Amino acid sequence: MVDVLHATVQVTAPATSANLGPGFDSLGIAWTMADCVTVTAVASGLVIDVSGEGAGALPDDASHLVVRGMAAAFAAVGAQLPGLRLHCRNTIPQGRGLGSSAAAVVSGVLAGRALLEHGEQLIDDAAALSLAAQLEGHADNVAACLLGGLTVAWATESGVRAVRQDVDLRAVLLVPPQVMATSASRELLPELVPHRDAVRNVGRAALLVATLNNPVLSRESLLAATQDWLHQPYRAFAMPESFALVAELRAFGVPAVLSGSGPSVLAFLVGVDDPPGSFRSLVTEGWRVHEVLVDPSGARVLRTLRE
Ligand code: HSE
Repeated sequence: MVDVLHATVQVTAPATSANLGPGFDSLGIAWTMADCVTVTAVASGLVIDVSGEGAGALPDDASHLVVRGMAAAFAAVGAQLPGLRLHCRNTIPQGRGLGSSAAAVVSGVLAGRALLEHGEQLIDDAAALSLAAQLEGHADNVAACLLGGLTVAWATESGVRAVRQDVDLRAVLLVPPQVMATSASRELLPELVPHRDAVRNVGRAALLVATLNNPVLSRESLLAATQDWLHQPYRAFAMPESFALVAELRAFGVPAVLSGSGPSVLAFLVGVDDPPGSFRSLVTEGWRVHEVLVDPSGARVLRTLRE
């Protein structure tokens, strides 16, 4: 029987961009934009309070993704989920391809682990990654969210694995007002792709990792390395404004891609001093423009207060 701590834990989890162009379902980067959740274990009941993104729209019952992440952590060690009070302070735009679901699930798994006696021994980081990826369904976002930096995730028969590396980057996230669920965006993808497209993508994904590993980042190399044939072209008609923006930025020589499954656009700022203001002039009303850096730490427990 695993003991549950009567405690309050605070967890922060970053926004992430998956795919990065050619690295479909495998590459991800964590950004300096994060959600924060404070969880208190209580005798019974479930109270969820959400401020910021998703306030008034997210479920306030056990289907809330933070609670589901906690439930997965408790179930993994055979423990009973206690009563909970949750306060979520969200800044990651939801339904925009910025990993808000991954952040919620990862926060839940880490908060759950922190509320379990010897939680870190019972659920080590590798197990937390697999648990969160299994629940969320997208290992690319989950790996970047959990580990920070640039990540490469892959599936094995015994769960998800990932490696991370530090990258020093500045980027702009351009976030449209409309949402698109990843599930809907995946339905746009074909069952089969031409072999030559797969070959081209392999080359660009490999070039992308090599380019991001190089201490002297070349904008030209990054522009070539972010070209994709596997998913973005198939998604274009469902998010025409995002695609027009990607095309316009790339025509200016700015390495730009869809963030994850879209509809947000990620523009890498490399070798240029473009202030975010210059990007604002490229988008219509309702779009938001966020300048971000890479978050090297990933999701973490900020504090645990035992009663
Ligand atoms: N790789 C996913 C997709 C994004 O493009 O559908 C969410 O992880």
